[in-house]
Amino acid sequence: MARLVIISNRVPVPRARSTPQAGGLAVALKQALADRDVLWFGWSGHVGAATSEAAAETVIGRTRYATVDLSSVDHRLYYTGFSNGTLWPLLHWRMGLTEFQREEYSGYRTVNEHFARVLAPMLRPDDVLWAHDFHLFPLAAFLRALGCTQRIGFFLHVPFPPPSLFAALPQGDVLLRDLAAYSLIGVQTDQDRDNLRAALAHALVGARVETFPIGIDAHAFAADAARGATGPEGRRLAASLADRALVLGVDRLDYSKGLPHRLQGFARLLARFPRHRRRVTLLQVAPVSRNEVARYRALRRELDELAGRINGEHGEPDWNPIRWITRAVPRATLAGYHRLARVGLVTPLRDGMNLVAKEFAAAQNPDDPGVLVLSRFAGAAAELSGAVLVNPHDPDEIAEGLDAALSMDKATRIARWRRDAEVVRTGSAATWASRFLHALEAATEPAALVE
Ligand code: ADP
Ligand code: F6P
Repeated sequence: MARLVIISNRVPVPRARSTPQAGGLAVALKQALADRDVLWFGWSGHVGAATSEAAAETVIGRTRYATVDLSSVDHRLYYTGFSNGTLWPLLHWRMGLTEFQREEYSGYRTVNEHFARVLAPMLRPDDVLWAHDFHLFPLAAFLRALGCTQRIGFFLHVPFPPPSLFAALPQGDVLLRDLAAYSLIGVQTDQDRDNLRAALAHALVGARVETFPIGIDAHAFAADAARGATGPEGRRLAASLADRALVLGVDRLDYSKGLPHRLQGFARLLARFPRHRRRVTLLQVAPVSRNEVARYRALRRELDELAGRINGEHGEPDWNPIRWITRAVPRATLAGYHRLARVGLVTPLRDGMNLVAKEFAAAQNPDDPGVLVLSRFAGAAAELSGAVLVNPHDPDEIAEGLDAALSMDKATRIARWRRDAEVVRTGSAATWASRFLHALEAATEPAALVE
């Protein structure tokens, strides 16, 4: 089997005593890559005095991790600036938050070109390359310019907005033309596929775009969940709940996740459906993410304040409605929390897929499962028909969804959960990767090589 070369901005090099990885890309890919030779290339996560001219390598099993540090200027322009300040909000349909600066755009291209220059000499002629996410739109075009003719696939983990919205991005057409250098482009949902195809057609770019919904290793997560729920952390949580129903939220602390609306939705539940007062607890785990971006720091302050205010307004001496944690939690512990939850509350305003929704489904006890309350704007909503779907912009609809979930009888919970469990079990991370790689191997030459 040909060696697989993964390229992603963040490379999850295993480190002793590291905090758990919060982020769908790292989690899904690691699960999908067992059993083959892999070179995994990207940013080290370190900001140094200068951007490295050569990659530092670590070999673990059959995977060689090769990473470069970024200088503070490159990091600011490429990662904080264009990736997180321009592309992230735009691709999540948040035009109002999108900022554009030419200097950042040009820094983004410079880092992609640098990645290509460092990576190209490490490649073998029969490698298969797979680049991930919005940080790397132009990477293949730079590799092609250096003479690389290998198959190169691209997967966009985040949504793609309607073309009329994407058109607001200065230089957007250049990024679309860059995509023609990829042999195959994968997206999470048919809606993303249709939007990206329409944008490409409008820019007169020929590129192949297909839908490949990402999955999880449901079997392993279910086993972790069963162990975690009865392990020390699970028992501690269960004892502290004192028979109250647990509503669980798990997300990176990101404005795409709809956290303020979610907390307000929970407060509306307590105000409008008083029978749940004192009988329910929301545990929201939201590890700090992208703290170098001002908007993320502002969101954290807003949420610290909001959680405190709701607890102040609704709490009682022996009951705090919201437990608010901004640290990452080990995966196995989290899995146990999912299993203990009566409701999984997953309400992003827009999300590529949302693996947490799938993890919640995988973690449930088949004899007494909880209910997923899910945003209709998460990619996962297209697959998880057993969930209670809500509009995440409307706190009242979130409250009604929560009330329905908390009131649902066991037979209905089991019937709905079975539908989701089947989807999650059959659409694993490994199946997702092998479907994409098969299609990549069968792909014809990309437009950029034919011309
Ligand atoms: P994103 O890619 O935007 O972060 P996803 O929901 O697709 O969103 O993936 C998030 C991944 O990160 C999931 O596998 C989830 O379990 C993990 N994760 C999220 N929050 C935490 C946390 N608090 N602690 C540990 N892992 C987390
Ligand atoms: O797809 C979502 C994503 O951008 C991934 O690419 C990334 O691993 C995750 O969110 C976490 O973001 P960051 O790497 O910027 O901390």
